[in-house]
Amino acid sequence: MSKEKLSKIPKLNMSVLPTPLHKLENLSRGLFGNVYCKRDDLTGFAFGGNKTRKLDYLVADALIKSNDSLIAVGANQSNFCRMASGAGVVNNFDVHLVLGGSKPDKPTGNLLIDYMFGAKVHHVESEEWDVWEEKGKELEKELSKAGRKAYCMPVGGSNPVGTLGYVSAFFEILEDCERMSVEFDYIVHATSSAGTQAGLLVGRAMSGWKGEIIGMAVSKNKEQLTEEVYELAMQTGEQFGVSIDKENVIVDDSFIGEAYGVITPDGAKAVNLFARKEGILLDYVYTGKAAAGLINYSRRGIFTDRNNVLFIHTGGNIHLFK
Ligand SMILES: Cc1ncc(COP(=O)(O)O)c(C=O)c1O
Repeated sequence: MSKEKLSKIPKLNMSVLPTPLHKLENLSRGLFGNVYCKRDDLTGFAFGGNKTRKLDYLVADALIKSNDSLIAVGANQSNFCRMASGAGVVNNFDVHLVLGGSKPDKPTGNLLIDYMFGAKVHHVESEEWDVWEEKGKELEKELSKAGRKAYCMPVGGSNPVGTLGYVSAFFEILEDCERMSVEFDYIVHATSSAGTQAGLLVGRAMSGWKGEIIGMAVSKNKEQLTEEVYELAMQTGEQFGVSIDKENVIVDDSFIGEAYGVITPDGAKAVNLFARKEGILLDYVYTGKAAAGLINYSRRGIFTDRNNVLFIHTGGNIHLFK
C-alpha cells in the first residue's frame, strides 16, 4: 500500500533507471563476503550519481509549485550542484548556485560543468553549511523582490522530498535481488547530508527487509549524523505511515580521516583497488572512504563468506579531474 503511495508521488525521469547491479568477482576473491555493487554512478544524467534520484523528485516539486528558479548550495566541487545545474537548465529554470570557497582562476571538475550548464554561481568564503544555506535563503528573498519565484534546496538535496529518491532506490534494489536471486545481509554506502541513508531506511521499514544499512560517514561525526539521518527518515517515513527504530540507524565515522575532503591513505588504497580489480572509478571524498570502510569490515571478518554485501557506488568521480 505504501509502495503504491510512493509510485503516485510526482517525479521526473532524468535518471536512467534501473542502474546496473553486479557482483565484484575479482574484489570478492580477496575479501571475506561476496561483494556486489549498485552502480548509482551510472544514473546517466549530467554524469550521474546519487543526486539525480533526489532531483527527479525535487525538480518535479519545483515545477508543480510554479517556480522559475532553482537555488542549490554546496561546496565548490559539489556533485549535487553539478547535477542540479543540469536538471534546472533542461527544465527551463534559472539556476543559482551558492558555493562555499573562493572562486578559482580556472574552474575544474564539477565547477567547470556548473558553468557549462549556465548556472549563476555565487561564491561565499565559508566552509559552514549553515552559512551557505543562509545565503541561499537571502538569495531567495532577493529573487522574490525581483519578481522571481525560487525553489531553494538544502545541501545535498536532503529534505523529505529529495529523500524519496532513495526510498524508491531501495525498492529498485529489492527488484534487482529478485531478478538475480540474491539476498543481501548488508548495504554499505557513503553518508554525508543524510538523504541517501534516510531514504534507504524508510524503504527498509516499508518493506520489512531485515539486513543492515551501514552509512560510512565522510563529513560529520557518528552522533550528529545518526541524529540527522534518524530525523530525516522519521519525517520522510511519516507520509507512508512508517517509523524508524533508531537502533537501525548505523553510522560509522572511523574512515573520515582528518576532515571532509581530505584524502586518507585507506581511502586512496580503496580507490586504487576498485580501479585495478574492477575497472570501477571511485572518488577520494565520498566513495573511496566508504569503500575503505567496506574493505576494513571485510578484512576484520565482520562480513563473512556467508554474507552478501551490497556497496552502493554513489558517484562523485568527476572530482578525479579537479
Ligand atoms: C558522490 C557522493 N556520494 C555520497 C554522498 C552522500 O549522500 P548524502 O548526502 O545523501 O548522504 C554524496 C553527497 O554529496 C556524494 O556526492
